[in-house]
Amino acid sequence: MVHDVSTVRSADAVAIAEAARRLRNGDLVAFPTETVYGLGADATNGEAVAAIFAVKARPRINPLIVHVKDQAQATEHVVFSELAAALATAFWPGPLTLVLPRRTDTPLTLLVSAGLDTVAVRAPSHPIAQQLIAAAGRPLAAPSANPSGTVSPTRASHVAKGFGNQLMILDGGPSPIGVESTVIGFGSNGPVMLRPGGIPRQAIERIVGPLTAPLAGGPVTSPGQLASHYAPNARLRLNAAAAEPGEVLLGFGPAAPADGLNLSPSGNLAEAAANLFAMLRALDAEAEAIAVMAIPAAGLGEAINDRLARAAAPRGPENV
Ligand code: TXA
Ligand code: MG
Repeated sequence: MVHDVSTVRSADAVAIAEAARRLRNGDLVAFPTETVYGLGADATNGEAVAAIFAVKARPRINPLIVHVKDQAQATEHVVFSELAAALATAFWPGPLTLVLPRRTDTPLTLLVSAGLDTVAVRAPSHPIAQQLIAAAGRPLAAPSANPSGTVSPTRASHVAKGFGNQLMILDGGPSPIGVESTVIGFGSNGPVMLRPGGIPRQAIERIVGPLTAPLAGGPVTSPGQLASHYAPNARLRLNAAAAEPGEVLLGFGPAAPADGLNLSPSGNLAEAAANLFAMLRALDAEAEAIAVMAIPAAGLGEAINDRLARAAAPRGPENV
C-alpha cells in the first residue's frame, strides 16, 4: 500500500535494502548525506524524477544533482575534463558537485538536467548514502529533502516535518557537515563557483587556481541560485551585535550571551555549519524575528554567509 509508508526508519541493513527496493520500484526515499538529507529517486527513471519536482514543488527549470558511488560511475554519465578529474580525485567522496557535459549515451532521464546539456554529479561520503547507491544499483537524483525554498534538512525529523507520511526516510543521525555541497561548473574562462558549500573555496583553488563568479545570463549559471532560498518564516537580521526587542539572537563565538543558541561558542566554522539549519529551524519555531551575529567570511564561512543572506533576502512569488 503506497499510503502506508511508515516514515522514519533507523538506517540499518534491513531498512537500506527496503529503501533500495523502493528506489528501483520508482518510489522516493529520503536519505542522509554528509551535507544535508537528500530526497532520492532513481535518476534513470523519468516518472520517479518527476515525482521529486512534484513533491518538493520545485520549479522544473532547476536541475538536480545525480549521486554516484565514485568517479568511475560518474564517467558513465558525464565527460570529465582534466581539471574536473583532478577535483574529483581530491574531494570525492565528499561535499563537492561538478557540473559536466552530459554524455549522449547516458541512461539518465533528461529531467535531471532541466533542459541543460550538463549534469551535476557528486559522490557523497556518508556511509549510508554510499550503501544505498550500491544497493539500488542506480545513480540517485537527490535535491535537499525539503519543500522548495525552505530551510534544508540536517535531521530525519526535519524531513518528516516537510513531507509527513509521503515517503520512507532513512535516519542516519545529524548530517555532519550541515551545509550543501560546493557546486563547480566549467566555463570558457575556467572553473566557476556556482554555489559555495562544504568544501571551502580555498581548498578548491589550491588545485584548479582562481574560481570565477558566474556571469548573470552567461553560459555557466545555476538556475537554483535564486535570491531568496533556505528561508525560515521568521525575519532575519544579519551581522547583529545583540538582539533588539522582539528578536531572538543566534550567537556565534565567545562574545555571545551565554543564555541563547550559539552556532559555535568557540567560534569554530565547521561546528557552526553543522548547527546552522537545525538552529534556524529551532528559533523559527519560537520567534518572528532572528538576529544573527556576524560570521567570518573565510573557509566554510562563505557557505554559511551565503545561506544566511538568502534566508534574509526579500521574498517574492518568483523566489520559490
Ligand atoms: O549537498 C548537496 O548538494 C545536497 C545533497 C542532498 O547532496 N543536494 C542539494 O541539491 O543541495 P539541490 O537540488 O538542493 O541543489 C542543487 C544545486 C542547485 O543550485 C542547482 O541549480 C544546481 O545544483 N545544479 C544542478 N544541476 C545543475 C546543472 N546541470 N547546471 C548548473 N547547476 C546545476
Ligand atoms: Mg536545496
